[in-house]
Formats: sequence, C-alpha cells, structure tokens
Amino acid sequence: MSIQLRLPEGIESERLVFRRPCVADAQALFDAYTSDPQVPKYMVWAPHTNVSETETFLEGCVADWNEGSRFAYALTLQGRASSPVGMLDATPKGHMLDIGYVLARDLWGRGLMTEAVMAFSELALALPGVFRLQASCDFENMASARTLEKSGFVREGRLDRYTVHPNISVEPRPCFMYARCR
Ligand SMILES: CC(C)(COP(=O)(O)OP(=O)(O)OC[C@H]1O[C@@H](n2cnc3c(N)ncnc32)[C@H](O)[C@@H]1OP(=O)(O)O)[C@@H](O)C(=O)NCCC(=O)NCCS
Repeated sequence: MSIQLRLPEGIESERLVFRRPCVADAQALFDAYTSDPQVPKYMVWAPHTNVSETETFLEGCVADWNEGSRFAYALTLQGRASSPVGMLDATPKGHMLDIGYVLARDLWGRGLMTEAVMAFSELALALPGVFRLQASCDFENMASARTLEKSGFVREGRLDRYTVHPNISVEPRPCFMYARCR
C-alpha cells in the first residue's frame, strides 16, 4: 500500500514565507519574473507575453496541489504575503522529491534561494518516507549549480542530452544531477 505524501501548506525561513499559490497571484508573478526573458533562459518554459499565460500556469499548480501530484510553493518576502517573488516546487517520485525553483531577477545574489532550498530540504528530509531530494540543472546554469551546492546537494554526474531548454536550443542539452539524501 502506498501512502500519498502531503507536504505542509506553509513554510517559513528567516526572510521568506512559502505558501500555496492561487490564480490571483498571476499579475504579481508576471511582473516579478514570468514576463522577464532572462529568467527562464535555463528553464523548460518560454517567457510569458500575457498575464493569462501565468494564470493558466497557476491553475495547473492549484490542480496539482489538490491532487497531490506536485507541490509548487509561492515564495514571498516576510511581511509581503500578497506579492510572490518566486516559486519552489517539489514533485514526488516514490521515496524521492524532484525540486525546481525560480526567483525574480532583482533579488538574485542575496542568498535567498539558498535559504529557500535549505529550509525546504531540512523539512522534507525529516518527513517519513522521503529519503532523497534531487534537482537537475543545465550544465551552464552556474547560479543554480552553486545554489544546490550551498544547500548541501552533491553533484552526482553529468547527464548528456537530458533536457531541452528551448530558450537556448531545440536540441536536448547536458544537465548536472544533484541530490541531497538522508
Ligand atoms: C538559480 C536562482 C534561483 C538562484 O537564486 P539566488 O537567490 O540568486 O541564489 P543565491 O544568491 O542563494 O546563490 C547563488 C550563487 O550562485 C552564484 N552565481 C550566480 N551567477 C553565477 C555565475 N554566472 N557563475 C558562477 N556562480 C554564479 C552566486 O554568486 C551565489 O554563490 P555565492 O553565494 O557563493 O557567491 C536564480 O538565479 C534564478 O531564479 N535563475 C533563473 C531560474 C533558474 O535557472 N532556476 C533553476 C533551474 S535548474
């Protein structure tokens, strides 16, 4: 019998609050990063040209939370709960969680995503049944690789032709696989 994993709906770190996203977050996320062409360079999605694309994305996040298939948290700065500035998502795969994350560009370089990944990792690896967190990043995405390393993840290898990052090329590109286990 498999027990469906439920993650907490709210998490806090020193400077950040994680919460369930809602469709009403669309304009704030569109303004913060989904419309910024530089942010998704190493992501699988193209920059949004209209806020309705962000709404559609958020509808998917809400549906995934409801069915327990993926847990995408809206990240807000402490005291600014109505204005998300990024997201961190976790997809269960048996005893593992696959994580991804993104942050508004004007907040890069302040250690915020390291803080988020650390807080999430410590909480998730303490849950019964969760033994491994993993994340892959494009082999040229140095900011993401460094974020994972600072958050206690170990680079396990380079996976050739692993992911298409369409803002760079239609061809699948190499990625690094990182994991943090207990
Ligand atoms: C990846 C991302 C979330 C990092 O967020 P952040 O809050 O800026 O990360 P942090 O400040 O905690 O840490 C970033 C680290 O990368 C380093 N870094 C940033 N750009 C770098 C580069 N081009 N080369 C080497 N290191 C780099 C920073 O110096 C910092 O390390 P340091 O503290 O040792 O100096 C952010 O850059 C982002 O949203 N990028 C676009 C989305 C994305 O690529 N997501 C990941 C997909 S796998």
